[in-house]
Amino acid sequence: MKILTFGASNTKNSINKALARFTATLVPGAEIEVLDLSDYDLPIFSEDLEKEIGQPPAAKTFFEKIGSADGVIVSFAEHNGSYTAAYKNLFDWASRIDQKVFQDKPTVYLSTSPGPGGAGSVLASAKGSAQFFGVDLKAAVSVPNFYDAFDAETARINEPNALADLIAAAETLALREIA
Ligand SMILES: Cc1cc2nc3c(=O)[nH]c(=O)nc-3n(C[C@H](O)[C@H](O)[C@H](O)COP(=O)(O)O)c2cc1C
Repeated sequence: MKILTFGASNTKNSINKALARFTATLVPGAEIEVLDLSDYDLPIFSEDLEKEIGQPPAAKTFFEKIGSADGVIVSFAEHNGSYTAAYKNLFDWASRIDQKVFQDKPTVYLSTSPGPGGAGSVLASAKGSAQFFGVDLKAAVSVPNFYDAFDAETARINEPNALADLIAAAETLALREIA
């Protein structure tokens, strides 16, 4: 199954991208694609600009990437308690193609930050609005204190509680209904 992963951040070395990628390796049988949101450069959304330019190619590509996946793992970076401007902007553009941006794909939401809060505020916000955006939300996990929990050499989460939560979350994407 094709699992699309990304960090909801345009940081090149995004810790959320690393977390999303690692979690995808825990999905049995996953074929993993990792998006880098820094490749999705877009002007700031405005309805006026939208009238001028329509749907920008980067927003269409992002929407189509989700559409071609069997499952999605996104990890939210938190800026001042909320989404990064880069993700919110891409999401706003994509939502004008179809409000169901996640197209009913089975999805795992994650979040992490260097601090003890683990970007829990943005994760709560994303969970609260998931139903409006076609997210078939299977699990949500926040990983606090990223740099203590993650081993950069192996690119793995080693902290036992976080690892157990991530394994359980990843397995929800592998579950199949038996016809
Ligand atoms: C403008 C700004 C605001 C931030 N606000 C928060 C915050 O509200 N909560 C938090 O846990 N970390 C916050 N951080 C720290 C980020 O969690 C940290 O930079 C993290 O690496 C971002 O994730 P990323 O590496 O995936 O981009 C902030 C960082 C920046 C640059």
